[in-house]
Amino acid sequence: MTNLTKAAVFASGTGSNYDAIMRAENLPCQITLLVCDRKDAKVIQKAKYYKTPIFIFEPQAYRDKAAYERKILNKLKKRGVEWIFLAGYMRIIGPTLLKAFKGKIVNIHPSLLPKFKGKDAIQQALDAKVKETGVTIHYVDEGIDTGPIIAQQTVSIHQEDTLKTLTEKIQKVEHKLYPTVIRQLLERT
Ligand code: GRF
Repeated sequence: MTNLTKAAVFASGTGSNYDAIMRAENLPCQITLLVCDRKDAKVIQKAKYYKTPIFIFEPQAYRDKAAYERKILNKLKKRGVEWIFLAGYMRIIGPTLLKAFKGKIVNIHPSLLPKFKGKDAIQQALDAKVKETGVTIHYVDEGIDTGPIIAQQTVSIHQEDTLKTLTEKIQKVEHKLYPTVIRQLLERT
């Protein structure tokens, strides 16, 4: 257990992807920190269940992004974190963390990037009336959903799909793909 690579998950919401990572069998990493920017986020209850140490911060309490990211960085260092997996973290990662974790920050996004970047990606796909969308896992750079793509999986959209049904289909794919990609990334390093 102790010689496993240590990683952190950053999340702001429900945490179903964090849950999928925690449930994945034989993942070659240990999640030693959950970073969350919303004290009412459901993911916090999940982290308590799995006994993952949690760092909750209120961005408004800091002067700027650099100030709260320095605090996060300090927590990550204390926990020996080498990789950061974003799972529904609703903030742009700034230079402080990008520099400290170069090539070691990964995000999951519910569309086939570069299509439908940013918020409401699933609704954007429905509004665009496209026949397929999907899931992308990518490295994080300074942009919004712009970093180099690691893996993608397509999800088809049927005429009867609603935001709810399409979200369910996408999340089903996410919950398998994220642990699979994490395993591949860590086995490579
Ligand atoms: C996921 O759809 C992910 O792709 C996006 O945010 C959502 C997070 O969902 N970045 P959850 O909190 O993991 O349930």
